[in-house]
Amino acid sequence: MQGQIIRCECIKEDLSLFLKGLKYNGLFILTDENTDKYCLPLINAIPEIREAKQIIIPAGDENKNITTLSTVWEFLSLNGANRKSLLINLGGGMLTDLGGFAAATFKRGIRFINLPTTLLGAVDAAVGGKTGINFMGLKNEIGAFCPAIAVMIDSQFFKTIDSTNLLSGYAEMLKHALLSSRTALNEILRFDWDNPDYRKLNELLFESVCVKEKIVAQDPTEQGLRKALNLGHTFGHAFESFSYETSRPVPHGYAVAWGLICELYLSYVKLGFDKDSLTKIAGFVKENYGSFAYGCNQYPRLYELMQHDKKNEAGLINFTLMKAVGEIAINQTANRAEIEETLDFYCDFF
Ligand code: GLY
Repeated sequence: MQGQIIRCECIKEDLSLFLKGLKYNGLFILTDENTDKYCLPLINAIPEIREAKQIIIPAGDENKNITTLSTVWEFLSLNGANRKSLLINLGGGMLTDLGGFAAATFKRGIRFINLPTTLLGAVDAAVGGKTGINFMGLKNEIGAFCPAIAVMIDSQFFKTIDSTNLLSGYAEMLKHALLSSRTALNEILRFDWDNPDYRKLNELLFESVCVKEKIVAQDPTEQGLRKALNLGHTFGHAFESFSYETSRPVPHGYAVAWGLICELYLSYVKLGFDKDSLTKIAGFVKENYGSFAYGCNQYPRLYELMQHDKKNEAGLINFTLMKAVGEIAINQTANRAEIEETLDFYCDFF
């Protein structure tokens, strides 16, 4: 069962109303040092929030680990949390993933609300019930499917986010549009990042969240259709990991944007995805995300990283590809020659 997605006009009023309509015993709020400083002030005039017990964890994906998780469990335990308690997660994807997992596992599960404070978090991590932590160097290695009872989205939180981080979230919106329809895609490609219209961005965000919600509702535990949401992520994760290995870290969404272009090229080669759309989308990505430069001597490492992707099955690299915009093909694979041809296309285009 998925929770509610609430599009807030004013987070203070909407959250206050939501909490008043809920029965719970003990309210906890999880923040990191940044959301404590920049986001909590938007809601701490609510009496329930003022009285809530606050847990502050360090920010950053490197802290999405068992040690931080343990401090959250410990705090809940030492401060009298029980099966009827409620946890509010106020933060980006790292925080909602970790807080969601802490809630999913504490006393076999307490309810939680996600208040995403980044565009990437709002459009992806906070929605859909995936919770977890990194473990032994592997991303999201330990986790559980457990949806928040509500995800409350207010773009007021995004006001302090710089354009790099906004664009990182926008790449997931581009992915959702590709999975959805040509109309949605055209809207996304038309957005002018040199002159951003934040009201429009908010509208597009909600359409995008609805695309994800609809897919997750049909396949909450990723047995089939939900794999559609992996579009762009096989190449994307390889670029992202490679960027960390070579000390040139790139934001997740940038790696996904470049990954989308590679996987649309594979879609063109293998499934006849239309070339004009590919060129148009690649142009948009090049203009707004630039490129990640590498040469053919780095192909073997990129290929190796793809071979270790946790989405793979039976030793085959797994891709979600597209027959056309809105026509999804999950469980596709490609051989080494096809992957290298794709990397050649990427290098030539960018
Ligand atoms: N981020 C992909 C998913 O939620 O399935």
